Amino acid sequence: MQPQQNHRWLRWPSDPSRSRLAFGADYNPEQWPRHIWDADVRAMQVAGVNIVSLGIFSWARIQPQVDVWDFGWLDEIMDLLHAHGIAVDLATATASPPPWLTTMHPEILPVDGDGRTIWPGARQHWRPTSPIFRLHALRLTRALAERYRDHPALTAWHVNNELGGDNAYDYSDDAATAFRDWLRRRYGTLDALNRAWATTFWSQQYSDWAQILPPRRATTHLNPTQQLDFKRFSSDALKDHLRAERSVLYEVTPDIAVTTNFMVMGWSKALNYADWAAEVDFVANDHYTTPGPQAHDELSFSANLTSNLAGGRPWYLMEHSTSALNWQPINVAKGPGEMARDSLTHVAHGADAVCFFQWRQSAAGAEKYHSAMLPHAGVDSTIFRAVTDLGATLRDLAEVAGTTRRPSGAAIVFDWESWWTAEHDAHPSDRLRYRQEALDWYTAFLELGIRADVVPVDAPLHRYGLLVAPILHVVPGALADRLRGYVADGGHLVTTYFSGIVDEHDHVWLDGYPGALRDLLGIRIEEFAPLSDEQSVELDNGTVGTLWTDRVDVKDPATEVLARYRQGGQTGRPAITRRAVGSGSAAYVSTRLGPAGLTVVLADLAQRAGIDSELPPDLRGRVELAVRGPYWFLINRTGQPLDISNVDGERLGSGTAVLAPRGVAVLRRATVPGTAHE
Ligand code: GLA
Ligand code: GLA
Repeated sequence: MQPQQNHRWLRWPSDPSRSRLAFGADYNPEQWPRHIWDADVRAMQVAGVNIVSLGIFSWARIQPQVDVWDFGWLDEIMDLLHAHGIAVDLATATASPPPWLTTMHPEILPVDGDGRTIWPGARQHWRPTSPIFRLHALRLTRALAERYRDHPALTAWHVNNELGGDNAYDYSDDAATAFRDWLRRRYGTLDALNRAWATTFWSQQYSDWAQILPPRRATTHLNPTQQLDFKRFSSDALKDHLRAERSVLYEVTPDIAVTTNFMVMGWSKALNYADWAAEVDFVANDHYTTPGPQAHDELSFSANLTSNLAGGRPWYLMEHSTSALNWQPINVAKGPGEMARDSLTHVAHGADAVCFFQWRQSAAGAEKYHSAMLPHAGVDSTIFRAVTDLGATLRDLAEVAGTTRRPSGAAIVFDWESWWTAEHDAHPSDRLRYRQEALDWYTAFLELGIRADVVPVDAPLHRYGLLVAPILHVVPGALADRLRGYVADGGHLVTTYFSGIVDEHDHVWLDGYPGALRDLLGIRIEEFAPLSDEQSVELDNGTVGTLWTDRVDVKDPATEVLARYRQGGQTGRPAITRRAVGSGSAAYVSTRLGPAGLTVVLADLAQRAGIDSELPPDLRGRVELAVRGPYWFLINRTGQPLDISNVDGERLGSGTAVLAPRGVAVLRRATVPGTAHE
């Protein structure tokens, strides 16, 4: 991805020793008495911690009243950390407004779609469009920047925290005002907005901007374009807050890198990070796993996507967990080796920092059962020993720091707007899950031992020989042109059910589905035929479809039917098609096949596209391969030891030819292929 003009991409934390991997955590010393701080920094040194994120939830401690400031404790801990060689990623501390502020200005509190106030008592109870919140947040940001501008521990700024994590959607009157301004900028005239929102439907024509509201709770299905624009607006409103804090920081400390921690992980969908990535000097991500058979594949998928949001450059893993969480219904503890494997998988996909939430497990408060680097049990614990081992492993891998990811031959396209829109209400099926479909394809690639990048839709697609675009639902004309150009130039495109259906306004492309991609695919669909939960359909290639089918007609003689429905409502009709276009092709999969079925289908499609695994046959599916510069990361996907002696390269650290269960080996390869990733 090209960085935005005038943006200082990529400024990296001012780390004097650039050739190391950062290792650390969120550190919340305000939760502990002073003497614990000394024990903390000693234990950090034992573990090899070299960075902490400080002050994330410290607003009330730093500014206990509107005109009272207390920096003494923060000065002291900054000095103490610096004296122990630990750098500070200093938060702007604006994530959780203090009680004096919400009492003085309850109008900064978010409002839900029912008009109910979201009260203080937890965190992130602020609306991004509140001018009063903005004023107080920037005052705090400036005070911190001015106080610590020359502090030697300061290595980076951490804006707020997980922007939108708990306050992604606000339906307040401030939001309504800001939404109208946003719409005015987008559409210019009410006529254009009325057309885009198709307001002739259900008598929704607007005759004045002031009539427009956020999509608050209504009698039945809300206008879908209003919903889509509100999602776009809400992502932009939080981005605007990031920019506002950032501009204060750039003004006071022009040489310090600024980031904020993204949430590229399973359920988190509200922010369009493809659009956010150019707003930070370096990309930082938080990742927590969701239990299940694809838990580790999902971690890899997220790390891979994060890396590609960062344009292949190194990024920061700002948070993950040493073991159990506290916010899932059941919080499963990690097994032996899992923490290291999870950490090193992020490194394999370009992370130059491995950080956790949090350093010392809280004794009280809402997160007291969330694991940490230093658990309730203290230093004499399995977790702390594993943490210390991980610190040593990261020191062994220091030379990896700064290397860029090597692009794969294949990619999966990930598009936030398709994610948002495909899962709207009042659709053919409410069971469709955009990210799950993309993840299933990713698992299929892993099963075949083929490296695949996960890339935002505006990434340079031409570098990939094979491009899978699952449920690419929103296809504006320009994107259809890009995809046509990609195929015409010899690329192999694969797409699925419910792709190419609508334009950027969520208006259906007419004359048969999949509208924008119909001619490229050489097929035509008159009607969707989703399946009930009990239904499944067999295909004649031995796979089984669920969730969805289409009534596919082949229209172009160059379109080959790769599989047909053998049973179910579409018996005999094409299920999977592929249209040859010069040396390229465009393939279509009309049902949900899941990881096992997709592995069968992808093996065929990849082979036709000339994409093969780089791994020895016996390791395919068992080992995940990721490549940074000259380094091959081999990640054991199984619970068995694996012999990796037939993979070339010198193993970093104290490795042998055996890859332990859940182990990760890093091999320095003799041949150094091109590593640039612009
Ligand atoms: C998020 C937040 C942290 C903490 C963790 C717990 O990532 O940023 O403050 O709440 O979740 O998993
Ligand atoms: C009702 C309404 C119609 C339409 C249909 C859709 O009958 O009167 O306007 O919404 O439902 O099923």
